[in-house]
Amino acid sequence: MKDGYLTVALTKGRLATKTLELFEKIGCPMEEMKDPDTRRLIFANEEKKLRFFLAKGPDVPTYVEYGAADFGVAGADIIMEENRRVYEVLDLGFGRCRMCVCGPAEAAELLKHHEYIRVATKYPRIAREYFYSIKMQTVDIIKLNGSVELGPIVGLSDVIVDIVETGSTLRENGLTVLEEVAPLSARMIVNQVSMQMEQERIREIIRALREALH
Ligand code: PRP
Repeated sequence: MKDGYLTVALTKGRLATKTLELFEKIGCPMEEMKDPDTRRLIFANEEKKLRFFLAKGPDVPTYVEYGAADFGVAGADIIMEENRRVYEVLDLGFGRCRMCVCGPAEAAELLKHHEYIRVATKYPRIAREYFYSIKMQTVDIIKLNGSVELGPIVGLSDVIVDIVETGSTLRENGLTVLEEVAPLSARMIVNQVSMQMEQERIREIIRALREALH
C-alpha cells in the first residue's frame, strides 16, 4: 500500500487459481504464478501495481486484518471461523459448498430433541454459534484438525459440523447431512484502513471484478 502497490492475499490451491483467472479477466494477468513448479510465494503486476501472495486459508484474514494485505480471498467458512476485523465486500461465487451438521441418520432424533450431544469439528466457532445462538441447544464441541467424519464412526462424537461439497466423503462413510448451517463460497475481504485510504482504487477493482463475474 505504502509503495503504491495494493496487495492481495490468496488462498493457495484452487481458490488462488480461480481468483487469478478473474483478475486476468479484468486486465491483470499473472503469468509467472501459473507455473506449477514455482515455489515463489509473492508476485507483482508492475503495470497495475498489484501484488499477490499465496497463503494458507486460515492465515488470509490475519494478513488482511493487520494490513499486510489490502485484499484477501478465502472461503466463507474460514472468514466466519477466524472472525477477523475485515470488510467482506464480494461473493466470488466459486468454491461453492455447504457447512452442515452431519452424522448417522439416527442422530437426527438427538438434534430434534435438543439433546446434550458431542459435536466434532474443525470449526468450533461456527459450531458454537450455530448450536448456542441459533438452535439454543447445549452441546459439547470437540475441535479436530481434519478427517472429521471419523468422529461419529469411532464413537468420539454424535455428529460433526463440516463442509459438504459433493457429499461423497459422507456417503462412503455411512453418514448423511442432518441440518444445513450455511451456504459457502469464496469471498473477497478488505482491510478496514485500506478501504478508507485507497477507497477509489479499491472500489474500482471491486466494481470490475463484479462485472467480470456476471
Ligand atoms: C473436506 C471436508 C470434508 C470433505 C467434503 O475435507 O472436511 O471431509 O472435504 O467434500 P465432499 O463432500 O466432496 O466429499 P478436506 O478434503 O479438506 O480434508 P480434511 O478432512 O482433512 O479437512
